[in-house]
Amino acid sequence: MAETPGPPGSRGTPRILLLTGKGGVGKSTLAAGTAALAAARGARTLVLSTDAAHSLADAYGVPVGPDPTEVAPDLHVQQVDAQLRFEQSWAEIQRYLLSLLDVVGVDRVAAEELTVLPGAEEVLALLELRLHARSGEWDTIVVDCAPTAETLRLLALPEALGWYMQRIFPTQRKVMRALKPVLTRAAGVPLPTETVFDALERLHRELDEVRALLTGPQASVRIVLTPEKVVLAEARRSWTTLSLFGYRVDGVVANRIFPTGGADAWRTAWTQAQAAVLAEVEASFAGLPLWRSVYRAAEPVGASALADLAADVYGDDDPLAPPTGTGPYSVQMGETGGDGPATATVSLVLPLVERRDVGLARNGDELVVTVGSYRRLLTLPTGLARHRIAGARIEGGRLQVRFEEKVT
Ligand SMILES: Nc1ncnc2c1ncn2[C@@H]1O[C@H](COP(=O)(O)OP(=O)(O)O)[C@@H](O)[C@H]1O
Ligand SMILES: [Mg+2]
Repeated sequence: MAETPGPPGSRGTPRILLLTGKGGVGKSTLAAGTAALAAARGARTLVLSTDAAHSLADAYGVPVGPDPTEVAPDLHVQQVDAQLRFEQSWAEIQRYLLSLLDVVGVDRVAAEELTVLPGAEEVLALLELRLHARSGEWDTIVVDCAPTAETLRLLALPEALGWYMQRIFPTQRKVMRALKPVLTRAAGVPLPTETVFDALERLHRELDEVRALLTGPQASVRIVLTPEKVVLAEARRSWTTLSLFGYRVDGVVANRIFPTGGADAWRTAWTQAQAAVLAEVEASFAGLPLWRSVYRAAEPVGASALADLAADVYGDDDPLAPPTGTGPYSVQMGETGGDGPATATVSLVLPLVERRDVGLARNGDELVVTVGSYRRLLTLPTGLARHRIAGARIEGGRLQVRFEEKVT
């Protein structure tokens, strides 16, 4: 599935960069700045925010609508109308759930609350990405993400439902269709209509497409943080979680670093505290680029101020260079060493954890990897059908799971 970008103007998949981090650290500022810099260097750039707060418009200092708006040459901004997206993709399914809850006697207000998934609006807003990525109009798409990695984790849903959607869902749908006349009369429970099934299937397919785009070879996630202990702790967890779900984290931006100089006690205390946390940031994210962004004397507003900020932050580095390094997940079939059983190694980027933090289980053709309260279902290649887990370890920030062919 290697992507070969053609000459500008005929790009296949655009370079997709997501910026994430805790609230207030400067995600929107860095997203807006990175996009402005890319556009100033000639890339047809779209920056979109899925956040209900209209911070991109504030950052560029211009009004921005729900459709891409040009705010500088080659720079378009879009604030996705998450509510509208939600209605388009979820309404059909929600209507059905509401009718079902009505029958079992759940009060309407409570039912509405039950059928609104937390974080779902954000995820559905990301559906917008599919159309833009396919349009051929953009070289670069920058996404100003929600405060935590939660949204990206929710995108793992289609993968988790993959097995169900492929094998159970079509059968269930057929059975439902056949039994419908009987069941409706007997139980008085509304059964899902074809449109509900269609809506579910479409939503699943679309979400899966977005996940494939965001975990693809042209996409990466950049973590924005400020040099504070609490922020660092969350950024570390994000790196692990994002990796677990297959996203490539390609760097860290430390924002709001106080310039050195000045001598009052307050300032000295803060610069020292920041320097200490920055040393921890460096140690934590060793192996990833760490870009530093100075706390400016004023809020950077407008495309040119933001592009300047980004140019300072990235220096000689190309902020939109294609992601490098091995993919987040790989399978290596081993040699059959002499008479021993055939082996294989499944390897997953999983930084900042130890072996004892990781749970592993085999579930049919899936490998279930658990870290804390997060669980990823990895579909194993069919070549591993007859293998069993023989051992696992963490090495160089990767989880290596060794499989051995069952000797019968
Ligand atoms: N390096 C910086 N120097 C000065 N002000 C900054 C800097 N980074 C962010 N800000 C300001 O801090 C506020 C929050 O930044 P923002 O990018 O909106 O954070 P987030 O999107 O992570 O919530 C904004 O008013 C922004 O202009
Ligand atoms: Mg923001």
